[in-house]
Amino acid sequence: MNQVISQWSHANQERAGKILDAYPEKRSAIMPLLYIASLEHDFASPDAMREVAELTGVTPAQVLSVASFYTMFKRDGVGKYLVSVCTSISCFLQGADEVLEAVEEATGIHHGETSEDGRFSVEHVECIGACGGAPAVQVNYELVEGLTPDKARQLIEWLTDSQPEVVLTDEMQQLFGGQRSFDWGSSEPEGAIAPVPAFGPYGSVGEDR
Ligand code: FES
Repeated sequence: MNQVISQWSHANQERAGKILDAYPEKRSAIMPLLYIASLEHDFASPDAMREVAELTGVTPAQVLSVASFYTMFKRDGVGKYLVSVCTSISCFLQGADEVLEAVEEATGIHHGETSEDGRFSVEHVECIGACGGAPAVQVNYELVEGLTPDKARQLIEWLTDSQPEVVLTDEMQQLFGGQRSFDWGSSEPEGAIAPVPAFGPYGSVGEDR
């Protein structure tokens, strides 16, 4: 067992081991390992990047070059709920700036900031692939489409009051969403437990961190 992995939680050791086994070229595993290291360190911290470098046989600077290219790797701490408001063209035309303003008012913070209590981080982002349901917002990368400024405020109030441990896209869409890009064929039972994307192995409901 690699010494770096042995410091991680048992669940993350297993995830990392499977990922490393899946990539004959170890540096190809940088991105999935960065998500796991981000779960361990709460974000892609210098220590997290050093560990991924050690696991993949590259330099920390090479890991940084990946982490700094992709905005979904956070290199500073973020709040329990990362609220990402798309402000690209389709969403902009459907009132994204007003939705962002409502989110900023309701959380008391602006783009790139984290609230003092560590509950919220807010950011505006480029297209998140939900143009047909514009304006679109994500909470911990779980999508809500067709938000109005009022609904965005209610979403923030709901997160503040109920503080869900798992954020579910279907639930948020039902409570606060409007027009969707298309009828989602099946419900999405998995939700996010942290401000990292809830792909199967990384941070989904029911999984240990
Ligand atoms: S422009 Fe907002 S989701 Fe595409």
